[in-house]
Amino acid sequence: MGLVERKQLYWFRVLVSEFGLVQRLGCRLFKMSSTQSDEQTVMNPNIGEVLDLRNAKGHGFYCYEYDGLYLFVPPPSVLKGGHHVDKLRSISEAELKDDDIMICAYPKCGTHWLWEVTKMLISGTIKYEKGVKESRMLEWTFKDGIEAVPPPRVFNTHLPLRMLPKQVVEKKIKCIQIMRNPKDVCVSYFNHLRDRAKPWGYDGDFSEFTETFLAGKLPDGSYPNYLRAWKVELAAAPDLPVLHLFYEEMLLNPLRTVKDIARFLGLSSTDQFCEDVADACSFKKMKKVDQEMKTKLDMKIWADGSEGTFYRKGEIGDWKNWFTVAENERFDQIWNAKMKDSGFEFTYAPA
Ligand code: A3P
Repeated sequence: MGLVERKQLYWFRVLVSEFGLVQRLGCRLFKMSSTQSDEQTVMNPNIGEVLDLRNAKGHGFYCYEYDGLYLFVPPPSVLKGGHHVDKLRSISEAELKDDDIMICAYPKCGTHWLWEVTKMLISGTIKYEKGVKESRMLEWTFKDGIEAVPPPRVFNTHLPLRMLPKQVVEKKIKCIQIMRNPKDVCVSYFNHLRDRAKPWGYDGDFSEFTETFLAGKLPDGSYPNYLRAWKVELAAAPDLPVLHLFYEEMLLNPLRTVKDIARFLGLSSTDQFCEDVADACSFKKMKKVDQEMKTKLDMKIWADGSEGTFYRKGEIGDWKNWFTVAENERFDQIWNAKMKDSGFEFTYAPA
């Protein structure tokens, strides 16, 4: 079935659901195409047009587009309470405090890790945050949620600079950005999305996913676009204080990175405290803490029987276990073409 037919079928289903033939969970659910007989997706008038980004095999995502970015259709618990796009738009008007901190990253670059490290540094204690990092994510909390957070406030986001609160630039809010080599990001994102509960999970194989990833037809859009957009938008805000980090560097030199973050934030953390933070935020410890004490999201995020976790392997170079030689060559070719002259350089192996 071609894209045009799929889109027509999609809108037919929307029409059907709008007439209330299928209604559940307070949202309208409808069966998708015949190639995905067991697939369902959420339809809600508060989201506007939902795009079918699936490949020819019917594997992939339904996303909506906001300001040039593909985003997940959120679960009912997030969709409730007003027009969703208005809520997203409200982020740019959120009032910030001068000492707020923004963690900025494309998915799977180490957002959870950096968020926890930063929270510990800023609070001056080796105390794990009980709440999950999603509770401090701009695109899950919106203006009202952002403003309600008590200090010290460390937010996180996968959004480009242009969608952040305007006060980020006006108040010169400190931003810390973490990046990671795209092959490990691709593998990590594949595992994450494959383990997610329907209708947000990915049901294709890894080879298909690499194409989806390179084409940017997935939630939070294309990684090359993310990197390029940040670079361009930052050039227009040259006074914004941004610390750029790399996942690989943080993994190879955790103590040095923690000290760099402390210095950037203007903290007088002792060497011993930085060491304690680096240790407390090691992959092993964070994984254990996540299992034992983190509060869970009030939505079913992982599929039954999956290993669903934000703490999978925590390594550099796992991509070598996933890519065939041909896939690797194709990835390099497309990635290099997209990132030509962008100036980004990544580490693909631990040594
Ligand atoms: P892998 O899937 O390769 O293991 P994000 O937080 O942006 O979703 O990124 C998740 C990735 O960071 C996962 O990568 C996860 O295992 C890794 N990660 C999380 N905490 C980590 C830590 N303390 N040290 C190293 N890697 C960590």
